Amino acid sequence: MSRRKVAILISGGGSNMLALARDMADPGHPAEVCLVLSNRPDAGGLARAAEMGIPTAVVDHRSYPDRASFEAAMMAPLRESGAELLCLAGFMRVLTPGFIEAWAGRMLNIHPSILPLFPGLHTHARCLAAGMAVHGCTVHEVTPDLDSGPILGQAVVPVEAGDTPDALAARVLPMEHRLYPPVLRRFVAGERAPLALLA
Ligand code: GRF
Repeated sequence: MSRRKVAILISGGGSNMLALARDMADPGHPAEVCLVLSNRPDAGGLARAAEMGIPTAVVDHRSYPDRASFEAAMMAPLRESGAELLCLAGFMRVLTPGFIEAWAGRMLNIHPSILPLFPGLHTHARCLAAGMAVHGCTVHEVTPDLDSGPILGQAVVPVEAGDTPDALAARVLPMEHRLYPPVLRRFVAGERAPLALLA
């Protein structure tokens, strides 16, 4: 059985990308990373991917007049790489319904909250403002409704007294790195029942 080809889309440091790529370095993994693509030329994750010998590409969204032309430009390196699945890992561009439909059922995202709570930005500050006792992250399939596709896995951490958004982010990020790899393995194997991880 040939391994499925996965492209990882990033915008920043790429710590989730690294967690996925390291797991896919296992020859027994049902998938392999074929490309790391960023919309930002200064994304730190590009160098980390290159160090692992992973092909990289940059499609700078600021060079395009609109989302559709930016996404059309992304399709070229994605096609060339042979990507069959996309993993959004700290990718901070909202995608159009057209692009999402082109990858329907083949695109995952990680979001730093326990969805459906706190879709969108500033999840840690909003969690604290709401007085929550727990927080976490979610891996979900990407659909045209932002941060609301079928849930594939969630990890939970406690909110501690005196937490700041940064302290909470620092507690959630390692759980993201623990959650995303096994969820991708399950997804490629056809498993859709959500995985739960407790801190
Ligand atoms: C992570 O919390 C991710 O969930 C969010 O951006 C943060 C940085 O991710 N979208 P990474 O280190 O770039 O993977």
